[in-house]
Amino acid sequence: MSATPFWLAGRPATGDDEITVTHPYDGRLVGTAAVPTEAQAEEAVAKAHAVRKEAAALPLHVRAEALAHVSRRLAERQEEIARLITGENGKPLFWARGEVGRAISVFRFAAEEARRWSGAAQRLDTDPGGVGRLAYTARVPHGPVLAITPFNFPLNLTAHKVAPAIAVGAPVVVKPAPATPLSALVLGELLAETGLPEGMFSVLPVPNERAAALVQDERLPIVSFTGSGPVGWSIQQAAPRKHVVLELGGNAAAVVCEDADLDWAARRTALFSNYQAGQSCIAVQRVYAVGDAYDRLLPKIVDAVGNLVVGDPWDDKTQVGPLISEDAAKRVEAWVESSGGTVETGGARDGATYAPTVLTGVRADAEVSCEEVFGPVMIVERAASVDDAFAKVNSSRYGLQAGVFTRSLDIAFKAQRELEVGGVIIGDVPSYRADQMPYGGVKDSGVGREGVASTMADYTYEKVMVLTGLDL
Ligand code: SIN
Repeated sequence: MSATPFWLAGRPATGDDEITVTHPYDGRLVGTAAVPTEAQAEEAVAKAHAVRKEAAALPLHVRAEALAHVSRRLAERQEEIARLITGENGKPLFWARGEVGRAISVFRFAAEEARRWSGAAQRLDTDPGGVGRLAYTARVPHGPVLAITPFNFPLNLTAHKVAPAIAVGAPVVVKPAPATPLSALVLGELLAETGLPEGMFSVLPVPNERAAALVQDERLPIVSFTGSGPVGWSIQQAAPRKHVVLELGGNAAAVVCEDADLDWAARRTALFSNYQAGQSCIAVQRVYAVGDAYDRLLPKIVDAVGNLVVGDPWDDKTQVGPLISEDAAKRVEAWVESSGGTVETGGARDGATYAPTVLTGVRADAEVSCEEVFGPVMIVERAASVDDAFAKVNSSRYGLQAGVFTRSLDIAFKAQRELEVGGVIIGDVPSYRADQMPYGGVKDSGVGREGVASTMADYTYEKVMVLTGLDL
């Protein structure tokens, strides 16, 4: 099997090394990816820097057509790419197909946003000093983007960084996760079909140890990172003068109020604690059920979790597959064993697969409660009141998204006011993400917002031009 080439300034290339990609479920070889040499990585950065002015001046229709092309081609190759994601990441085909579907939308949204990228005019004669004057404010890119992407959504979280960059006219250098470089390389292949200028994009599957040099390179003034907290914050410290976007982890909570539809709440929390084996920053990790709802909800959750279909990700019926590696599953196992809680269901490991698990009575300082599990584990606790439940949600150092199952609009608005998170989902799990809406965290969950339009704003700054002497 020859190594999949990487993308150097829009062209396929091979280096002097390869990464081996294996299937998390059974360790079988999925493919190999060529690794750029130091000189090739330098060339990619130099070309991104060199093309930045041409990129910023690209007509909007050229950017929009390139983005629409990628969206169409992803749709044409949806099944093949979904299979690639399942191969390298281990997520069941059902979820991999969904991920490609989302990436199709992300590129389409970016094409639509690019066509609307017009700036704003503002009359200044609202004040006597501004008579005959008009401000035109354009958003201009800070410059080339370094996109460091994670293994859990290897295609769509790359799409979230690449598509907005192209839409605003910024070159982008992608460093994919070493476990899952192949989906990002397919994206490179589709971008290469578009005729974007040389240097507009590179996909460099370099090992993590080589990312530091890219982070510190002043020719890449934006760093957009999705991944773990310690790595994310170390990036910000290493590059204090750069514009850094960090999408980090969380221990997302769902509050289930007494007026909620408990069957719905049980089904949704069960599924979204365990989708992608819990490897999503907004997977349900903590459930706080208010008052009596706890006694009625817990058996329903245990039943729903126990009925999830676990196993081979290639089987269409499988809902929960393996974690990314056996080491990841062993860490989850150790955290469950040290939690001091009662295992209501699950609690067993088989290789890289960890059984969907529900815990009650865990210690308040247990990792499964305070840290991001990134595995198929949910803790369920009783809360004395809605206020108590919200206090428990806020007791975390993280704050990405929260779900609140209620029919009350008053509680909904209270949740938006009081919960210390970037997003509140009413009547559903915290795991809901629409790719066009703002997405990001507060506290240790990160800084900045993704979501196509939000990322476009984040990659750019406002530049004002004032026209004078006008007869308005
Ligand atoms: C994440 O895990 O941060 C992304 C979740 C998503 O895009 O659905």
